[in-house]
Amino acid sequence: MIIAVDGPAASGKGTIAKALARHYGLPHLDTGLLYRAVALTVRRLDLDPAREADAVAACDFDDALLADPALRSDEIGQLASIVSAHPLVRAALLQRQKRFARQDGGAVLDGRDIGSVIAPDADAKLFVKATPQIRAQRRHKELQAHGSPVSFDKVLADIRARDARDSGRSTAPLVMAPDAALLDTSFLSIEASVQKAVALVDARRAKA
Ligand code: DC
Repeated sequence: MIIAVDGPAASGKGTIAKALARHYGLPHLDTGLLYRAVALTVRRLDLDPAREADAVAACDFDDALLADPALRSDEIGQLASIVSAHPLVRAALLQRQKRFARQDGGAVLDGRDIGSVIAPDADAKLFVKATPQIRAQRRHKELQAHGSPVSFDKVLADIRARDARDSGRSTAPLVMAPDAALLDTSFLSIEASVQKAVALVDARRAKA
């Protein structure tokens, strides 16, 4: 069983994908981490994220980087959004994601283009969304808990900028696949979101 979970930044898709993987006993890949690893490599090698050739050179990152806590910052998230708009960067990371999706027994992948490009044949597709304000509130709270003094307005502006870039690019933009089930987490707790996600996946499987 392949489960595709797509959605914008801070929608809750990562938490939901992880919980689904646990529930169904499947391996999970957070595909955003791959683009974040490219971004961090660009940063560390002092390359230009806007130059496609520079970003492609950074796709050859060491896998040990995928566990680096520096990947999680908002700055690297923005940079990941910039490098991920290059078609050759997406091409360089494509096969790895497709292989993960097709492994024996199945997998859960989350990202922006899982249901549309990486696994268009997924058994269940979820599109997780929440309003920009609510996503910014969640992210702001998280940052405050970690002692980062960022204003709410800055967090909201960053989320809007990332949404515009991720949805507006020409290669594999963030879109809801026509056969995806919509899960709006705006007014749901994490537990309620996960319960609903499991119910949606079970409903898809029952239909198949
Ligand atoms: O999900 P995330 O915030 O970790 O993703 C970081 C950036 O990587 C996101 O803004 C766009 C890019 N990305 C992508 O283009 N395609 C994916 N499947 C996953 C992430």
